[in-house]
Amino acid sequence: MMDRCILPPIGMRLLFGIWCCTVGLAAWAQPRNPFDTPEGQAQGRALFQTHCSYCHGARGEGGRGADLTTGHYRRGGEDANLFATVRNGIPGTEMPAVRVTDDEVWKLVAFVKFLGTMPAGERGAGNVAAGKQIFEGKGKCTQCHSIGPEGPSLGPDLSDVGRRRDLQYIEESLLRPEADVPVKYRAVEVVTKSGESVRGIRLNEDDISIQVRDGQERLRSFLKEIVREIRRDKPSMMPAFGPVLSKREIEDLVAFLSSLRGLP
Ligand code: HEC
Ligand code: HEC
Repeated sequence: MMDRCILPPIGMRLLFGIWCCTVGLAAWAQPRNPFDTPEGQAQGRALFQTHCSYCHGARGEGGRGADLTTGHYRRGGEDANLFATVRNGIPGTEMPAVRVTDDEVWKLVAFVKFLGTMPAGERGAGNVAAGKQIFEGKGKCTQCHSIGPEGPSLGPDLSDVGRRRDLQYIEESLLRPEADVPVKYRAVEVVTKSGESVRGIRLNEDDISIQVRDGQERLRSFLKEIVREIRRDKPSMMPAFGPVLSKREIEDLVAFLSSLRGLP
């Protein structure tokens, strides 16, 4: 009689315990990477060469894409965060979603994590403080660029350019701005039939009209019927600084810009 009263609660407690363990384990095990092994990393490395290296560099050192050797990730460095970044890409940036299986994404994540443990790369020969002075003074960079939320928006915000781009890309931006112009910053020159000419960043365009943001950051809209010509031969609003600044000044600027990593 006593036994029959006590047994069910013990059974229940046992079952509940097992249930807790299973759910707990599943929650704990779920976001972990099943391919975080030497073999997984090696397969991830091969996939990385095909799908990622043309932006992130063969050794993850960065280029058109972010430097992946720092171990810092704006969208989180946990396995689950990295999985989401690689699976879905980063909306609003050039980082695309990758077209591979989920298992392959996990292998890529294993390799990306491995890259994040590498020693920090070269940060350039220039002088960061001198570069900051040129940025704010002689270079007149603050006419078009902000570092942080306040400021002009004719050029991209540079608060984390050192994380997004490598040294070579940054130097090229200064010497040959037109070498790689993101779609959002393509410049055009609109010449109207009455002879007015307005250069600016193309915001929108359809069969009927075109909208640009001009050098004074004013929004301008033109009906196509009054437009004589739209010139697209100078795709960047940014001047080339080779003729304006010395080699040394360019080096200092590159060192300053590469130190901007968006970290607090
Ligand atoms: C077309 C260029 C391009 C390709 C291809 C590309 N990326 Fe990216 N990736 C970027 C850019 C640009 C960023 C920086 C985005 C930002 O934060 O503004 C980035 C950022 C990242 C980040 C950092 C995210 C963070 O939280 O800071 C990771 C990780 C990453 N990419 C992994 C990969 C992997 C793995 C592949 C290959 C499957 C890949 N990327 C392919 C351009 C690219
Ligand atoms: C007249 C406006 C203007 C001025 C002045 C200007 N820039 Fe730019 N900059 C732009 C535009 C527009 C872009 C985007 C198009 C491109 O990449 O060429 C850009 C792009 C860049 C990039 C690449 C950013 C990225 O996210 O890829 C860097 C770095 C840069 N500028 C640095 C500088 C520095 C340093 C100075 C001063 C010496 C400067 N800029 C002066 C308009 C300007």
